[in-house]
Amino acid sequence: FGVKSEKNTAYLSRATGQECQTLGLGESWLSESVLVCYLKCLLRYPTTCQSVVYSATTKSCTPGSVAFGPLEPVTSIPDSSSGDTIYYKRQPTPPCNISGDFTLYDICGTTACLHLSSSKADYFQAVQNCQQSKSRLFIADTMVRVSVFWHVSLKYLNDDTLIGLRDLAGDNWFFWDNGVVMAMEQRSYIWGDFSSRKNGNCVEAKHSDSQKRYGFDDVDCMDMKQYICEPYDAYDAE
Ligand SMILES: *[C@@H]1O[C@H](CO)[C@@H](O)[C@H](O)[C@H]1NC(C)=O
Repeated sequence: FGVKSEKNTAYLSRATGQECQTLGLGESWLSESVLVCYLKCLLRYPTTCQSVVYSATTKSCTPGSVAFGPLEPVTSIPDSSSGDTIYYKRQPTPPCNISGDFTLYDICGTTACLHLSSSKADYFQAVQNCQQSKSRLFIADTMVRVSVFWHVSLKYLNDDTLIGLRDLAGDNWFFWDNGVVMAMEQRSYIWGDFSSRKNGNCVEAKHSDSQKRYGFDDVDCMDMKQYICEPYDAYDAE
């Protein structure tokens, strides 16, 4: 359904907690409908309200931020067993040369412009391959971006996937390929079950053990892996 606001019409999409989740912004309240729930969320959290979790049976309304694909180690709503529904707003679509090497991928309202490798390469070759089309290895410096990465890696590449994250000096400080250090709060859901690291200075999303799907792992930069490129301007447009 659509919600009319001053500037534009914001459409909400709906999903179950198994499909999409979000971070709660605050206490729940009771609302007679999803529409009233969402409007109150916008009033209370004008800049951060991007979704609501609503229960048609209890009328419980919980304000939420940007939706993302489920990430196991993250405490998010709705609880996938609750039967509550998440209604989320679509995020702006980044610029994307879809007549070139790039395709738009969609997960829980976030769209990413990506090029997926068609063969394996080591880190340095992968960086070069991306650069040839004005792009770089995917940077997952937010929870939403981590969920986009996993979604594409699991669903489309279906193999261990290099990400644009590297231990530049070999001292366990990991930097994204845009030069920004990985935030402390990302450690819990980036490393997942692989928190005891080996000595590799590059990083992959590891699939082989399905129990550990949310684990990134350090690897030798010369290991051959699949990878994902994203144009600089698509990242900067966020
Ligand atoms: C889109 O990609 C194609 C193929 O790589 C290229 O020839 C074209 O110049 C690109 N267009 C833009 C606007 O970058």
